[in-house]
Amino acid sequence: MTPTFDHLLLTQPQDNIWLITIDRPKALNALNSALLMSLNQAFQWLDSLPSTKVIMLTGSGDKAFVAGADVAAMQSMTALEARDFSSLGMALMQQIESCSAPVIALVNGFCLGGGCELALSCDYILASENAVFGQPEVSLGITPGFGGTQRLARSIGKGNAMHWILTGDRISAQNALKLNVCNQIFSPAELLKGGLVQADKIARNSPCAVRFAKQLIHQGLNMSLQDGCQLETERFALSFTTQDQTEGMAAFLERRPARFSNQ
Ligand code: HXC
Repeated sequence: MTPTFDHLLLTQPQDNIWLITIDRPKALNALNSALLMSLNQAFQWLDSLPSTKVIMLTGSGDKAFVAGADVAAMQSMTALEARDFSSLGMALMQQIESCSAPVIALVNGFCLGGGCELALSCDYILASENAVFGQPEVSLGITPGFGGTQRLARSIGKGNAMHWILTGDRISAQNALKLNVCNQIFSPAELLKGGLVQADKIARNSPCAVRFAKQLIHQGLNMSLQDGCQLETERFALSFTTQDQTEGMAAFLERRPARFSNQ
């Protein structure tokens, strides 16, 4: 049975594919500590199921993915409490990156501050035409705190990250697409369907190879090119010890679809 998590809806649009919907619409899905913990627990639970092949993350309604960390909750925080709050969010972002299953963000509407940081920690982003990205923290007298200065600069380069973070400008889906922050844009009505098409393609591939490839990309981003390539050689060799390699190559040569394990 699917456990319940506060302010989250977990649904399974297809076998092996899960959709987490952040459901705090009155506050445009703003992230408070309880919601960060719920998300962390939900990702942990889904990743513990061997059958989970892809996780999609979206916001309820069509107005917001997540409009940021909860400003009302942050207003009276001491520096120590702010540090704990930041650490809680950082742990969630790391949890998403280290999840075995790929995580696709489906960004519908406002994706600001902590919401943008949450989307950036997903493996990639699909956006609806009405998506609005931005890091408005400096207008509130704070810096990003869930990894935005780091992930955004790695994703779109120093100059673009400086522009987003120092101006706090709102960035349209089209501009986010030009900067490769999102991979594709859909009409709001088609966003989930578009996500499912891609999730289904991923789910048909070898779960083992998908997991290795995700790990290689994440780990490689924090390494020199040489070390990353060395790691790739090792993981490539390791994939030859899996049943999926045996099955994948046999299926190709026998001209039939591969039947991969659920590993
Ligand atoms: C708490 C929020 C919220 C937020 C919206 N709401 N964003 N509550 N935290 N981040 C609440 C509003 O207070 C309001 O509640 C309801 O959601 C609807 O929002 P409105 O402002 O009335 O809607 P609208 O006029 O359409 O404007 C939408 C908006 C605006 C442009 C997204 O809400 C906005 O600017 N929100 C804040 C965006 C932001 O600054 N995010 C970054 C936060 S800092 P009521 O009860 O009045 O109806 C951050 C730091 C991350 O994310 C790192 C932390 C460590």
